[in-house]
Amino acid sequence: MTEYSTFEHDVLVIGAGGAGLRAAIEASASGVSVGLICKSLLGKAHTVMAEGGMAAAMGNVDDRDNWKVHFSDTMRGGQYVNNWRMAELHAKEAPERVRELEAWGAVFDRTKDGKILQRNFGGHRYPRLAHVGDRTGLELIRTLQDHGVHQGIDVHMEVTVVSLLKDGDRVVGVFAYEREHGRFRVFKAKAVILATGGVGRAYKITSNSWEGTGDGHALAYHAGAELIDMEFIQFHPTGMVWPPSVRGILVTEGVRGEGGILTNSEGRRFMFDDIPDNYKDQTSDTPEEGWRYVTGDKEARRPPELLTRDHVARCIVREVREGRGSPHGGVFLDIAWIKEKISNAPEHIKRKLPSMYHQFMQLANLDITTTPMEVGPTTHYIMGGIRVHADTQESTLPGLFAAGECAAGINGANRLGGNSLSDLIVFGKRAGEFAAKFALENGHGAIEAAQIEAEARRALEPFERAAGENPFVVQQDLQEMMQDLVGIVRKEDEMQEALVGLDKLKARSAAASVAGNIDFNPGWHTALDLRNLLTVSEAITRSAIERKESRGGQFRDDFQGKDPEWGTKNVAVKQDADGQMKISHIAIPEMPGELKEVINEMG
Ligand code: FUM
Repeated sequence: MTEYSTFEHDVLVIGAGGAGLRAAIEASASGVSVGLICKSLLGKAHTVMAEGGMAAAMGNVDDRDNWKVHFSDTMRGGQYVNNWRMAELHAKEAPERVRELEAWGAVFDRTKDGKILQRNFGGHRYPRLAHVGDRTGLELIRTLQDHGVHQGIDVHMEVTVVSLLKDGDRVVGVFAYEREHGRFRVFKAKAVILATGGVGRAYKITSNSWEGTGDGHALAYHAGAELIDMEFIQFHPTGMVWPPSVRGILVTEGVRGEGGILTNSEGRRFMFDDIPDNYKDQTSDTPEEGWRYVTGDKEARRPPELLTRDHVARCIVREVREGRGSPHGGVFLDIAWIKEKISNAPEHIKRKLPSMYHQFMQLANLDITTTPMEVGPTTHYIMGGIRVHADTQESTLPGLFAAGECAAGINGANRLGGNSLSDLIVFGKRAGEFAAKFALENGHGAIEAAQIEAEARRALEPFERAAGENPFVVQQDLQEMMQDLVGIVRKEDEMQEALVGLDKLKARSAAASVAGNIDFNPGWHTALDLRNLLTVSEAITRSAIERKESRGGQFRDDFQGKDPEWGTKNVAVKQDADGQMKISHIAIPEMPGELKEVINEMG
């Protein structure tokens, strides 16, 4: 018999980033008991790496901004395959959620007249990102944590969930292990919220922390929930490219929001070469006008560096492929040039972008106030994830909710920068509210001992295999393969090759072995993470093969245009009775007339 300790909560939240913390606070405020599981330590979630700000149409810097403009920007950025109801709720509720953070103690940068300052970001028509220098995610987590510790939430740190436990179709708990001592834990819960973040660690070059192994996506999938939009991966245009040890680390879009320009090895601002038709009316075709926009001139059009991320990332790839890249395979991002425009430029840069200044000084020995950075695309975010109900965040399984990056819908084919932090607080709150409601209306389910035994046996298998491969090697090979074959530019034959590769990697993972015992054993943890990484990689690859067009985060070299037919549906994946991944299409419901009018009104 497996030994484990048992914990019981009304609502169990898995993940303590912005969405998880906000969900836990809301559930707790409804009077139910709440458990919060962190894979890492409380306060160290990947949300702290979100830098540039949270998008909310508060209109503090440009009073023409409102929820309608934000809604239509989000839909356009997502290329109209978004869940329009989520985009509507997000645009309407984000300002209130930001003001709530302020009331809870978040220290935002300020306008001259004392309002929350908002900065420019790609795809947002007006300056919209409430920010704290370039450390907005850190301030978000600090604020939620400070608020949350007074709510009586039980926090379980350094615990990793291995599987969801079910009673029939309903999710009623989780099976987990303590990272430190490897001991097993069973959590019983009336409702479970997944808020586990992204999948970036399936790729070699990523801005994601070690925790981004697709846990929530894979847990939900293996429990029988549906995932959608998994083909849509966001490659952030600007990650560090040099030195190799820091490749992929995020260089915030805030640099471009503050006036940073992208140039190639010829010193040319290549973003002027390719301005998409649907953004021509808003994008400047002269450097001078773009700068006027950065400085807040309401009449000016924005610089082409602030086009949407999918587009900017592809332009960078083009420059590098055509031999106009920087020495280490990226392009140049120059903020130092603003000294031509403002007198105290170095101080200004250090004040607006303190983390970027220190990051480049310490990791690359480069002073961004004098020297251009070298940057290139990095796997940053997945638009796809667990299919949820827009209002309640309930998944397709009763008792299972999801919020934040692991839930899908709001962003469609491409997320606008800054929409993630506001997504976390808008839908984190909703998930907490509706999971608590579910918990108040339902008792605990029953968990069969055999289910727990089976999960424990599976988790311990890597110790029982003799002379198997090192799981780190399998993980590394997976990351290389996904980067090469299912990356920014995709082709059918390469993705078919990736599917064959995934089968081989699955077999290698199933034979991988680990030495030592369950006490802090990173090899074992990696062996367990591999199942999640392989699951999400397969979902990404199969969905990307299925969508035979290019849209947002999916660019197909063999289908370069958008196909209107594909604009009417989402690709879904679900596990069938034989354990195989099955693909289906879900028609996007017709948008109500009043939202169509908003989009028309906004042009
Ligand atoms: O560039 C950034 O600061 C990232 C923000 C985001 O992904 O929302």
